[in-house]
Amino acid sequence: MKKIKFRASSHYVPEKIVTNDDLAQIMDTSDEWIQKRTGIKQRHISQGENTADLSVKVALDLLAKSGLSAKEIDLIIVATMSPEAYTPSTAALVQGEIGASKAFAFDISAACSGYIYALEMASAYLASGQAKRVMVLGGEVLSKIIDWQDRATAVLFGDGAGGAILEIDSDGTSAFLASDLATYGQDGQSLTAGITPALTSFPANGEHKFSSFAMDGHAVYSFATREVPKSIQRACDKAQLAVSDIDYFVLHQANARIIKSVAKKMQLPIEKFPINIDRYGNTSAASEPILFDELVQAGKIKPGSLVALSGFGGGLTVGTQIIRY
Ligand code: ACO
Repeated sequence: MKKIKFRASSHYVPEKIVTNDDLAQIMDTSDEWIQKRTGIKQRHISQGENTADLSVKVALDLLAKSGLSAKEIDLIIVATMSPEAYTPSTAALVQGEIGASKAFAFDISAACSGYIYALEMASAYLASGQAKRVMVLGGEVLSKIIDWQDRATAVLFGDGAGGAILEIDSDGTSAFLASDLATYGQDGQSLTAGITPALTSFPANGEHKFSSFAMDGHAVYSFATREVPKSIQRACDKAQLAVSDIDYFVLHQANARIIKSVAKKMQLPIEKFPINIDRYGNTSAASEPILFDELVQAGKIKPGSLVALSGFGGGLTVGTQIIRY
C-alpha cells in the first residue's frame, strides 16, 4: 500500500472584515441574533477577488512552505460551490496561473463536504500511483451567490480558501486511515444555489435569471446533527478506532450550535471540537482546510495527531476522513 502524507497546509481569507453590526446597517438583523443562533461574529468578504484568486494565494503559499516548484505537482483538485465559470474549472485557472504545467486539474462540487470528497479523490490518485503529489484546495467566494436581501442566509456566509499538498512518502505510514462518504440526493432541494433551468433558446421562451443561495435551515440543521455523528462513527469503525481516540474533530463550520450538538450526542468533550466560525462564518468547502491549517499553525495538530475531518451540506452530502497527521 502507498504511504501518503501531508507535506504542507495553508489558508487565505480576503482582507475586508464585515461584522454583524455592519450587516445590521443594511438588513433587519442584530449582532445578538446572529451570535446566539450561529456563533458568528464576523466574516471576511471579497472585494473583487474571485474563487481562483483566493485559491492561487493558497497554492503559492503551499509551494513556498513545501519548497516545491509548481512543476512538481501532478494533480490539482479544487472543491468549490462558487466557481468562476462552468468552464474553465477553478482548478484549471489555478494550474495555469501558478504554472503547474505537468498537473492535470479539475473541480469537485459537493458544497460544504467538498473538501472531504476532494481528499478522497487525492488519496485515491496517490494510492493508485497515478499521482505522486496532489494539491487539494477548498475555495469559495460565497458573497457573490448570496441574496443580500435575504437575512436568513446572508448573515451566515463568508469567503476564503484553504488547502494542502499531499504526497507519496516511502518512509511513513499513510495519513489516510479510513473515510465515509454519503449523499442524500432526494433531499437536495433543501439547499440550492445557481439553478439553471433548461429554457428552450430557439425561439427563446424565457429569461435566464441567476438563482441565489436558498436553504431550509431547519431541514439542514436536523440533517447535520443526525448524520454527522453517524458518519464519524462509521469512519472510526473502518479505521478500527474508538471515537474517543480522536484528538481533534475538524467539523464543517456552519453553526456553532451544530458542532456543540454533535459533541454532546457523541458524548465527547467540546474541547476536541475546535470552532472558528466566530471569525469566518460559513465558508463552505474552505471551512475544513482553514480550520485544519489554523490548528497545524498553532501546533495543536502535530505529527501523530489523530484527526477526524467531517463536512456536511448541499447535495445533501456528508463525509468524514480519519487521518493521522
Ligand atoms: N436576523 C434576525 N432574525 C432572523 C434572521 C436574522 N439574520 N434570520 C431569520 N430570522 C428570524 C426568522 O424570521 C424567525 O422569525 P419568526 O420566529 O418571527 O418566524 C426567527 O428568526 C427564527 O428563525 P429560524 O430559522 O427558526 O432560526 P434558527 O434558530 O433555525 O436558525 C439557522 C437558522 C442559523 C439557518 C439554522 O437553521 C442553521 O444553522 N441551519 C443549518 C445551516 C447549515 O448547516 N447549512 C449547511 C451548510 S451550508 C452549505 O452546504 C453551503
